[in-house]
Amino acid sequence: MGKIVLYKHQNINQDEIWDEGANEFAIYSKNISFYHKIANIFASFVDIHRHINICDLGCGSSGILINEILQKKENIENLFCIDYSSEMLDVCANNVISSNKIKFIQSRAEDFSKKLPCELDMVIADCSFWLFEAQKALKEIYLSLKNEGDFVFNFAEWDFDFENHTPHPKYKVVDDELQKRNIEIVKEGGGKKKFSKKNIEKLLTDNGFSIISIENVYIETSKEDWLYFYSIPSIVKRSMPLLTLDLGMDVLKSAINSMTNEQLKPIRWIFYHTRKKQ
Ligand SMILES: C[S@@+](CC[C@H](N)C(=O)[O-])C[C@H]1O[C@@H](n2cnc3c(N)ncnc32)[C@H](O)[C@@H]1O
Repeated sequence: MGKIVLYKHQNINQDEIWDEGANEFAIYSKNISFYHKIANIFASFVDIHRHINICDLGCGSSGILINEILQKKENIENLFCIDYSSEMLDVCANNVISSNKIKFIQSRAEDFSKKLPCELDMVIADCSFWLFEAQKALKEIYLSLKNEGDFVFNFAEWDFDFENHTPHPKYKVVDDELQKRNIEIVKEGGGKKKFSKKNIEKLLTDNGFSIISIENVYIETSKEDWLYFYSIPSIVKRSMPLLTLDLGMDVLKSAINSMTNEQLKPIRWIFYHTRKKQ
């Protein structure tokens, strides 16, 4: 059989992807250790004296962060859980602890400030900022926050251009698996990442935020984590947009199964803690 060459477009339809996978996203996320570790890190930014009204922007369906915050930070009055996907919100409602502090709002990050009943002390974008139209979302986050309110968000190494960073070995393993199957995926624009230290810091400054801290975190990841990660349809569709879901999942899982222990390196994440300037 001849080689199959596929051209990867970055502009796939996001809406369908997240709506369709809401259930699986919740089920499998709960088994992925790095999602719990990340939720833990975000919860550690919540200051019980300053953060009373909080928003989880792009909250998804697993409820991991929501439960983590509500269980650890009793003083919170409102936790606004915002997502544009109504499926994600519906599934999320079944995965969170029962609390009248939780308020679900269906909205885009680029258009949510007017839907809030009060000003916020903190906005958290847990593994979601990479999906937003950054400039518009930052304007909305600015409008929704009190003066000196906090905005915290993160990127994984696959969405952020870390300078002098050696790519995670899983990329080579996946490429090898594709090659074995005679499939070539051509990344247009050389697969350049949308976010870098330079552009994100300019966006933050231009939109009225000061940077309080930047944390580089390496999170250990097991083979099991990756297999659960690639059981989530929305993740597979993002990673392999041109393959059918079944084929994409098969390629990714075979690749993960072939990984050696040395290739299971921790994933690099960057966390930005920023504050609205007065
Ligand atoms: C990778 S998931 C992360 C979900 C959750 N924060 C977590 O860590 O489990 C991204 C979420 O952002 C939502 N999303 C994507 N683009 C959005 C937008 N422009 N506005 C609001 N939500 C968005 C998706 O529906 C999805 O639930």
